Amino acid sequence: MELFETVNDIKEYLKTKKEEGLTIGFVPTMGALHEGHLSLFREAKEENDLVVASIFINPSQFNNQSDLEKYPRTLETDLKKLEEQGCNVVFHPSVEEMYPEPDTTEFDFGNLDKVLEGEFRPGHFNGVASVVKKLFEIIKPDRAYFGLKDFQQLLIIHKMIKDFDCPVELVPCAIVREKNGLAMSSRNELLSKSERKQASLIYKTLKFIKVQAGFQPIHELKNYVEREFKRKNMKLEYFEIVDMYTLEPLTTWLGSKNVITCIAVQVGNVRLIDNIILFS
Ligand code: PAJ
Repeated sequence: MELFETVNDIKEYLKTKKEEGLTIGFVPTMGALHEGHLSLFREAKEENDLVVASIFINPSQFNNQSDLEKYPRTLETDLKKLEEQGCNVVFHPSVEEMYPEPDTTEFDFGNLDKVLEGEFRPGHFNGVASVVKKLFEIIKPDRAYFGLKDFQQLLIIHKMIKDFDCPVELVPCAIVREKNGLAMSSRNELLSKSERKQASLIYKTLKFIKVQAGFQPIHELKNYVEREFKRKNMKLEYFEIVDMYTLEPLTTWLGSKNVITCIAVQVGNVRLIDNIILFS
């Protein structure tokens, strides 16, 4: 496995590989790798000649300094895990290497980056899109793998690829969960044992909503979820039932198609997000 820290070195290396006719599958990450990440690598490995990972904690997508500071950093174990998955190339640049000048790129995503996560993390998706666009330009992948766990991020990247005609195929990958249903996340490492247990209410609730979808009125389900989290002393940031493509909230189940429910909960000091597709 090759490790690169500079833009020029990795560009040069991948240029030769492209000239040899090899296809490139790319998995961008911020490290602290878990099974959720690794499933993306397995899928990329199956569909491409060469798999490239990036490990870069992108400051411009953190709207909260302490969240950035406490983000887990586990490079050595990450590299071991990537090697085991048969990853071929890792790009691990410094912040100065990626952003020698401050990041001033501004995107227009319409409604997509204003709602749900966008409301609670202003500027977050602008930062995500900016770094992913830059990474695409450096790596020039044939396919890029993103988890459905960050559903809104997937929509943003999809729009960015369309708006800028990025020559890359976006491959969405299923959510990987822990035994108790909690969606795997690097942030789970920051939960205490009892918080982890508490956090299982998130997926339990989503599964309950999936069973009730189409039967119980939406406003009643929303009230129920709000009450449940209050009762368990957990801070619910949002629970929304929305159109899967526009993220516009639904008020009735009439003609329901392409419906997803998204949730964000603060457990202790850790913010967790999850979602489940209700109708596709
Ligand atoms: P990060 O949180 O490290 O996630 C990297 C990729 O792994 C994302 O596509 C995310 O959706 C996926 N992923 C995380 N947990 C998952 C799970 N439980 N199941 C399936 N996929 C999962 O997302 C980012 O980094 C950053 O925003 C990034 C795109 C790298 C830009 O900085």
